[in-house]
Amino acid sequence: MSSVICKNVIKIYRTDAVETVALRELSMSVREGEFRVIAGPSGSGKTTLLNCIGAIDMPDAGTILVDREDITKFSEKERIEYRRKKVGFVFQFFNLVPYLTAIENVELPMIAIGIPREQRIKRARELLSLVGLKSKIHHKPHELSGGEQQRVAIAIALANDPSLILADEPTGELDYATGRQIVRLFRDLHRELNKTIIMVTHDISMAVYADRISIMRDGKIIETTTPAEKSIAELLMIDTDQLLANLEERKEILLREIKKLEEDYRAGMISLDQLVQRYTELKNELQKIESELRKFLI
Ligand SMILES: Nc1ncnc2c1ncn2[C@@H]1O[C@H](COP(=O)(O)OP(=O)(O)OP(=O)(O)O)[C@@H](O)[C@H]1O
Ligand SMILES: [Mg+2]
Repeated sequence: MSSVICKNVIKIYRTDAVETVALRELSMSVREGEFRVIAGPSGSGKTTLLNCIGAIDMPDAGTILVDREDITKFSEKERIEYRRKKVGFVFQFFNLVPYLTAIENVELPMIAIGIPREQRIKRARELLSLVGLKSKIHHKPHELSGGEQQRVAIAIALANDPSLILADEPTGELDYATGRQIVRLFRDLHRELNKTIIMVTHDISMAVYADRISIMRDGKIIETTTPAEKSIAELLMIDTDQLLANLEERKEILLREIKKLEEDYRAGMISLDQLVQRYTELKNELQKIESELRKFLI
């Protein structure tokens, strides 16, 4: 179990001419063994926050204390050690190695820290059985459903027995019912294994299983509450209108940026390579936003 305390964390992304303040003096405290959900609109800084807590990314200012140690002061070597041993990551896209079986995928992080083969296989089997995949350990990712692939990804995250699990939209690619099963699995793991879990989601209805829910907006946590204090319906009410407005605003901005990019290219201000690279980034983001917007139509 780990505790996580963020104090006045600032993260600014700088690209050519643009500066984006992704975290604005964000402060938050997650207790040992807590299951915290972080919800908020697209672009509010959720992934940035998890990446900073997981030492994938470095904040520009502020402190992040994990078990009372300031991880922002770590050397590169300490960061690698921290990521390998203390943290388990689960992402939206399952990130499995396609040509390896489920059990081989779970063995990988254990190979990285030098666990002997027999011990690895034993632990991988136990973990896959814990996530409900006992009968499918020799399946390759394409022979598994989305929900099953995410279960493998969770087993991988648990492989090195981390005390902190960071999950970034682990249900984002799944249909509602499967997504719910995965969140329940997190809750069960949390209870049985006593891990601290920080889970990011767009979908606040998933937050019923959390100990506490933080609502993030524009680089800050604006509210932290428990599912009991505030009904999910109420939280849904706060979020939906704002979420929709933010998404539409971002879509407009992206469309304008795409148009400007094309103009810049025609005017000879940027190279074809620059055009293609930036265009791909913008298009990807646009697609993501459009898929979010479609969820409102259901
Ligand atoms: N590598 C980067 N370079 C420049 N800007 C970035 C980068 N990563 C994120 N940003 C910007 O920082 C802000 C926060 O992004 P972040 O990915 O943390 O949001 P999010 O809450 O995870 O959004 P989503 O729900 O869409 O995943 C956004 O404005 C985003 O455009
Ligand atoms: Mg994100």
